[in-house]
Amino acid sequence: MTQTSPLTGQIAVVTGASRGIGAAIARKLASLGAHTVLTARNQDQLDKIVAQITAAGGHAESHPCDLAEPTQIDTLARLILETHGRCDILVNNAGVGWFEGPLHTTPLEDWDQLLAINLRAPYLLLRAFAPAMIAAQRGHIINISSLAGKNPVPNAAAYAASKWGLNGLMISAAEELRQHRVRVSLVAPGTVRTEFGSGQSSQKSALGAIQPNDIAAIVALLVTQADESFISEVLIRPTLKK
Ligand SMILES: NC(=O)c1ccc[n+]([C@@H]2O[C@H](COP(=O)([O-])OP(=O)(O)OC[C@H]3O[C@@H](n4cnc5c(N)ncnc54)[C@H](OP(=O)(O)O)[C@@H]3O)[C@@H](O)[C@H]2O)c1
Repeated sequence: MTQTSPLTGQIAVVTGASRGIGAAIARKLASLGAHTVLTARNQDQLDKIVAQITAAGGHAESHPCDLAEPTQIDTLARLILETHGRCDILVNNAGVGWFEGPLHTTPLEDWDQLLAINLRAPYLLLRAFAPAMIAAQRGHIINISSLAGKNPVPNAAAYAASKWGLNGLMISAAEELRQHRVRVSLVAPGTVRTEFGSGQSSQKSALGAIQPNDIAAIVALLVTQADESFISEVLIRPTLKK
């Protein structure tokens, strides 16, 4: 990595960075020169990803946070802004699924937990970091949505609703923030090979499956695009339809 790396001097916050897509995004943004702040609940796993980034010559730190807890989100955001004085990139990646059955059998506590992590937390994080981005007249907020936010998903209605909601939330916020040169984008993959949904995604055939690094490459493209260009949404499908 050199001083001319495209994200040198930038602070990138990545949620759900302890594994899967978030870990890949954190590694990628650090490889492009960003000082990357990783968060999730599992501190041991976060430590491993930070160690990988550091060993590769990148800069990273981690802070545990349960995104279902608004006070923990407030504390995390305050810590980051007090330490670094800025946030250039926020990647709302953390997410959970519930794929157990039809909506009328979905327990209320699972609904509440899923909506808190997948929809409320991105709102709270945007609310925490947007003022600093507006003041700086720059920033990217990337939201990892899903093709489940574009389609009906039987037996995962709450998950689909969280991603449809995330899309509506963030395309609206994008219109509020673009006048301040802050770009809010959605990345909507199909199935990616991770442990998501109790390992359902990892059980899919490896052959031809979308990989976490493929999503990280798209995020890298979004945060390195020209100042005047705003890619607002990317849909990602596997090339080979199964
Ligand atoms: N994999 C797919 O097929 C697929 C397809 C389309 C979209 N997506 C989306 O991509 C995103 C990442 O998914 P993934 O496949 O990488 O899933 P994953 O491997 O299960 O990782 C989920 C991440 O979210 C974190 N997380 C879960 N609950 C949390 C909480 N309460 N507070 C803080 N962090 C929490 C986990 O960390 P801790 O457990 O350490 O907290 C983990 O780092 C999700 O938004 C998902 O909806 C995935």
